[in-house]
Amino acid sequence: MIIKGGNVFLDSRFVKRDLFISGEKIVSSSSGEVIDASGKYVVPGLVDMHVHFRDFGEEHKEDWRSGSEAALAGGITTVFDMPNNKVPITSKKLLDQKRDKVSSKALVDFELYISVNNSNVDEINENKIKFVKLYYGHTTGDNKVDDAGDIFKRISKDIVIVVHAEDNRVMEENRKKFDVSEKRYHSLVRDNKAEYTAVKDLIGFAERYGNKLHITHVSCKESAEMIKNAKKRGVKVTCDTCPHYLFLDDSLYDKIGNRAKVNPALKSGEDREALWKYLNDGTIDCVCSDHAPHTLEEKNRDYENCPSGFPGVETTLPLMLTAVNEGKIKLEDFIPKMTTAPAKIFGLERKGQLKEGFDADVVIIDLNKEGAISGNKLQTKVKWSPFEGMKTQGSSVRVIITDKVY
Ligand code: DOR
Ligand code: ZN
Repeated sequence: MIIKGGNVFLDSRFVKRDLFISGEKIVSSSSGEVIDASGKYVVPGLVDMHVHFRDFGEEHKEDWRSGSEAALAGGITTVFDMPNNKVPITSKKLLDQKRDKVSSKALVDFELYISVNNSNVDEINENKIKFVKLYYGHTTGDNKVDDAGDIFKRISKDIVIVVHAEDNRVMEENRKKFDVSEKRYHSLVRDNKAEYTAVKDLIGFAERYGNKLHITHVSCKESAEMIKNAKKRGVKVTCDTCPHYLFLDDSLYDKIGNRAKVNPALKSGEDREALWKYLNDGTIDCVCSDHAPHTLEEKNRDYENCPSGFPGVETTLPLMLTAVNEGKIKLEDFIPKMTTAPAKIFGLERKGQLKEGFDADVVIIDLNKEGAISGNKLQTKVKWSPFEGMKTQGSSVRVIITDKVY
């Protein structure tokens, strides 16, 4: 296959050239089908390092086929799936079972997280696992951790610890202060302090014990500032944020009520704008969707019974490209955040670049293609979006994943 005449992303910049694919690899020359990419941008298949593709008793929300289709629609060719399934993935055996079941349904490449807790650290160390998820604060599913410091101390220092950072004690205190009838209650309980208190503790552990720490879905300015400073001190910390923290804020409750529930909670407009600054100055390494589908029926329930989370795997790229068109970030600064950066952090040796020998995961982007986000048109089973009605400019028009064209 030859992808002809596009602007190809190579070594952090775009160059006009042809790209050759043979079998499952990028090669130096080939013949065969020609795909015209003139006027388009040719980038590595995107890596979304944080999704919840459900299945396993929650297939009414999503399964690996619908989740994959949604990913492909959004230019994503590799996903990292979270372990908070109905039966949480806390052992090598459960991880292997999940991998077996998922393999036959997945249309995209994938990696699976195991959930670390105080009792499975030895098992994780013994099984050469490369990365784990740690639920520092309580969220959807049963993933309780009693003593995070003990985990950081005992876990192998090669393992990347991906953390959901919200502090349970701060949230408990906040619950006493506010009434559940308040429109923005969720954001008042899960406030900036809840997140940055956790971030501070976690950075402290990583600094003390020398771990590789990745803080996922950073939602507020104080957390980002702490991470920036920790990086300067040489702490091995990386982080990501998601489109809902970059494009939405706590005014969303006025529009869609409880449906705006997500963990971490949406923060202020000031936080939203600050995150763009930290994205541009390199503090925030990656962008991911935290695709966490729940049905509209579930999301329309009262506060206590409404689950937290937004679908997002197929809206991430069009939203980020819209931001590129608006001048909020350069295309060549955004693309690494879903390609080279996650590949480097998680040690994906054949992903994230369009160099010879790398996997032939390629996305062709039309930066001018206009659209509007409409839940009904999405591939996800849940058919709603917190970004409903937002106009977008830019999207993937072709996805090639190891020889298949979508
Ligand atoms: O909002 C969220 N939803 N945050 C999480 O941490 C979990 C996720 C889910 O699984 O629904
Ligand atoms: Zn998540």
